Amino acid sequence: TSFLPSTNPIDETTDIAVVIDILRATTVMTVAIANGAKEITTTCDVQTAREMADAITPRPLLCGERSCVPIEGFDCGNSPAEYSPPRVAGRHLVVTTTNGTKAIGAASLAKQVLLGSFLNRRAVAASLDPNASVALVCAGTDGFVTLEDVLFAGAIVSHFQSQFDQHQLPTLELNDESQIASEMWRSWFGPAMGEPSRTHAAALAARLSQSRGGKNLVRAGYEADLLRCAEMDSVAVVPRRIAIRAGASIFG
Ligand code: MLT
Repeated sequence: TSFLPSTNPIDETTDIAVVIDILRATTVMTVAIANGAKEITTTCDVQTAREMADAITPRPLLCGERSCVPIEGFDCGNSPAEYSPPRVAGRHLVVTTTNGTKAIGAASLAKQVLLGSFLNRRAVAASLDPNASVALVCAGTDGFVTLEDVLFAGAIVSHFQSQFDQHQLPTLELNDESQIASEMWRSWFGPAMGEPSRTHAAALAARLSQSRGGKNLVRAGYEADLLRCAEMDSVAVVPRRIAIRAGASIFG
């Protein structure tokens, strides 16, 4: 686990990177793919996103945010509710966000890149090979460590710890961040992959509202998004990188 994209240890030998930006980039991309979006091209830069959208036929939806709010001239902002099936099914999306798409860029050397969120927590855990070298890359918020990304990393690490314990597998090698994240998850949630409930979603949303990113969203009027981002295990798909084109990671 790395708590920030800048401290991730990913290189060409890393089998799988899971990029985590719970509020809201990787949650939104998970919703978009679950609702039928054909592919998502990610880029860190607003002007590049515009140029990419202009160059693709049929024209993709231009999506993303800066300072939590939709970017001028873009089709969608960064609220999960905007990515409904009628809006995104069959469409190509070009996305740029403040932190999430930077974290995706920072993970690009890994052999496989997946997008994680509380929505697809169980599906992400199920798709990771316990023998692979896995890097959980937290996006953070504006260069600072953020609680919700670490909490999610902890959910995944803690799942593997219990798998290894149950099946008496050789020791799981965990860096310090992974151990911190797992202890945080277990002290907050309890069992590694316990069944989520409505109470959990509400409690998680309340927890999210206390984080740096959560406070920013509440201030910007997006409090309803916190509850959506907290709907644990509600989506069974895991967006994965399907190509790299002109330096941009494409997810499907
Ligand atoms: C980001 O990538 O920085 C976040 O998705 C921010 C947001 O949701 O507004």
